Amino acid sequence: MPSMEQNGPRNTTQTRKQKPVLKLSNQPRCAADAISRREIVKKQRESLPIASVKERLVQEVKNHDVLIIVGETGSGKTTQLPQFLFNAGFCPNGKVIGITQPRRVAAVTVAKRVAEECGVELGLKVGYSIRFDDRTSSSTRIKYMTDGLLLREALLDPYLSRYSVIIVDEAHERTVHTDVLLGLLKNVQRARLKSVIDHAVVNNKKASNGITKENEKGAECTNFLKQCQRKFPPLKLIIMSASLDARLFSEYFGGARAVHVEGRQHHVDIFYTLHAETDYVDAALITIFQIHLEEGPGDILVFLTGQEEIEGVERLVQEQLQKLPEESRKLLTAPIFSSLPSEQQMRVFMPAPAGHRKVILATNIAETSVTIPGVKYVIDPGFIKARSYNPVKGMESLIIIPTSKAQALQRSGRAGREGPGKCFRLYPESEFEKLEDSTKPEIKRCNLSNVILQLKALGVDDIIGFDFLEKPSRAAIQKSLEELFLLGALTDDCKLSDPVGHQMARLPLDPIYSKALILASQFKCLEEMLIAVSMLSVESIFYNPREKSEEAKTAKKCFASPDGDHLTLINVYRAAGELLQKRRMETGIEKNEKNIKGKNEKILRKWCRENFINSRSLRHACDIHRLFTPSSSSFPLEVIFHCSQIRGHVEQMGLPISSCGDDTLQFRRCLAASFFLNAALKQPEGTYSLWRVGHGIQPSIEIPFHVMSRFPFSCIKTLKFAEMNGRALASGQVVQIHPTSVLHQSKVECVIFDELVQTSQKYIRNTTRIDYLWLAELAPHYYAMQG
Ligand code: CDP
Ligand code: MG
Repeated sequence: MPSMEQNGPRNTTQTRKQKPVLKLSNQPRCAADAISRREIVKKQRESLPIASVKERLVQEVKNHDVLIIVGETGSGKTTQLPQFLFNAGFCPNGKVIGITQPRRVAAVTVAKRVAEECGVELGLKVGYSIRFDDRTSSSTRIKYMTDGLLLREALLDPYLSRYSVIIVDEAHERTVHTDVLLGLLKNVQRARLKSVIDHAVVNNKKASNGITKENEKGAECTNFLKQCQRKFPPLKLIIMSASLDARLFSEYFGGARAVHVEGRQHHVDIFYTLHAETDYVDAALITIFQIHLEEGPGDILVFLTGQEEIEGVERLVQEQLQKLPEESRKLLTAPIFSSLPSEQQMRVFMPAPAGHRKVILATNIAETSVTIPGVKYVIDPGFIKARSYNPVKGMESLIIIPTSKAQALQRSGRAGREGPGKCFRLYPESEFEKLEDSTKPEIKRCNLSNVILQLKALGVDDIIGFDFLEKPSRAAIQKSLEELFLLGALTDDCKLSDPVGHQMARLPLDPIYSKALILASQFKCLEEMLIAVSMLSVESIFYNPREKSEEAKTAKKCFASPDGDHLTLINVYRAAGELLQKRRMETGIEKNEKNIKGKNEKILRKWCRENFINSRSLRHACDIHRLFTPSSSSFPLEVIFHCSQIRGHVEQMGLPISSCGDDTLQFRRCLAASFFLNAALKQPEGTYSLWRVGHGIQPSIEIPFHVMSRFPFSCIKTLKFAEMNGRALASGQVVQIHPTSVLHQSKVECVIFDELVQTSQKYIRNTTRIDYLWLAELAPHYYAMQG
């Protein structure tokens, strides 16, 4: 077994301050470049494994309304199949082929690639639609989107009538949205079939002056049915998966047809470390340079757990490169993760300039969702960031856990797509054997409130009875129903409340944020809440490099509000706005809009750098919050759907948008009224204790009031809530305010928070100071004064 325990460039002593100047570029330099690129793309397409089975696949789709396609990653499923179907006439009468992806970044990059392959501008024939970003038009026929987005579309168009084909891609990922979508699509197929039959019956009756001819003239009827089917074509459903287990999907769809597309996998040598690594980031860094300095040509793909880790490793690689001799510095980094802006995502697909090597730093998105050409070496530390939910404690946490065996195999497979490759697993071989076979579906480990709210809005009242691929636990369903009820989204008989429940279902946000926006209009602070929610909908706004931690902290102090993180985020947003406003005054005479925009961007980026703010995240938040005024009111549903920005949604709902100005008390009271389920009280020893129903552990401090649950348990026949009755306990869960919060180490007595995360400790993030008496005043259905 080869050992990987060698020294990387840490021992290299030469230093030079020069930065690598070469950049990956996706812009063809001249017309000849563009033509040769087109030729290359054409050849690449023709050589994909799926190209040789094109006719057969089209025939299979024609013959079966549900088809399961299993194929190795990189065989061409995602990019090619929609094009095959489009060319075979699967988009009659302007119908659309929809392809869902679990990840935003996959939807965007694949749509761009397919638009390029088709030689069309993105947003015309080929487009994508993801939350807060829609690049489709009335001429779009091949539409990539996230699974969550299609679920939202179903709210407006329950029959998904604009689609002739829906391809649920990456079904093996088993995201909660994919699982729910499959159940929904099953219903849509049934409903469409029923409408064909209904139409046939009604029209047949008309034709025979009210006398049904079904029994008299069978053949005539069959013909008529066929005509109707042409008018209302059935929904073709294709489920694509990279894993070999098609059985589960096939059985779920009543023994649906499953086909396998052969891939072309070359041999991959697997290396393990001799001992367990204590710091996998450090081990990954050493391995990157070990490969770079000792192995032959080929790009490196490193699997990391998230944006912060990726950005950290990117910086460390750059630093280490400076310590290498000039000729060894030909290594370029290319990060890819979901929240990366799309123009930067595309960089990973561009080949490195001659003589250079590219190191791609990716989340598990590169496991199957996107295929990156040129990879010969894979570094797999063996971890993923995963959601985990404890319904008893009502606690959701993002934790870093070991991958499954299936994931480890997928990752190593990425090295053998174009030729023999090598995969370096940063753990001993004995550890591999201990891994789970496959990852637990998300629906079994997440808070279901969001999904349940959407199902309710789709008219699915009996959540327990819903045809799930795999049922979530009763406890998780119960907890989410309870949460939705307490937020006022459900009525006593467990129906969507009007208007609050319907409004909440319409907003593409977590229910608690939606509630905050709805309440904010009453508290006259919707302007502030819109900013806060936008800023919280993106990855971390503050950027804290390890090596400049103190400077970053000082910079943050300029924005810090003694009242907490929500107001601090608002301060950042407003400071950026003021900077641009000032600049607008200065450049009032400048005519060229494009010029101004470019300069503004530059100034904003510089300001962000100086203030340790993540400019990507800030820009994304601005996009989300941006003012959107629909130009037409003649298609209200379409307009609501397409005005993806939150502000557009609340305007459409008619919620008055006003600002509380300097009266931040109103804003904090509004937070207390909406986040009352997430409240924590300081304990004498400095930690915080959560108030939640049903944990049964008494806190060590005296709590001034009861926490109670007034959930109408008797109303839901399918659920047993009897044991909830009369339990009015406060939680003794001990948490700490996260070090990134401005209230960390403060003496604030009571806070509300957004998120409970468990790493080495239980932390609450994004906290704001409140008065605990507000809880009893503003959420009397949950908190009652003692005695
Ligand atoms: O879905 P599947 O994993 O079977 O393959 P795919 O995503 O359709 O990718 C097929 C090929 O298209 C890959 O081998 C990549 O070389 C190429 N591709 C690309 O160059 N850029 C993209 N954004 C997506 C795919
Ligand atoms: Mg794919």
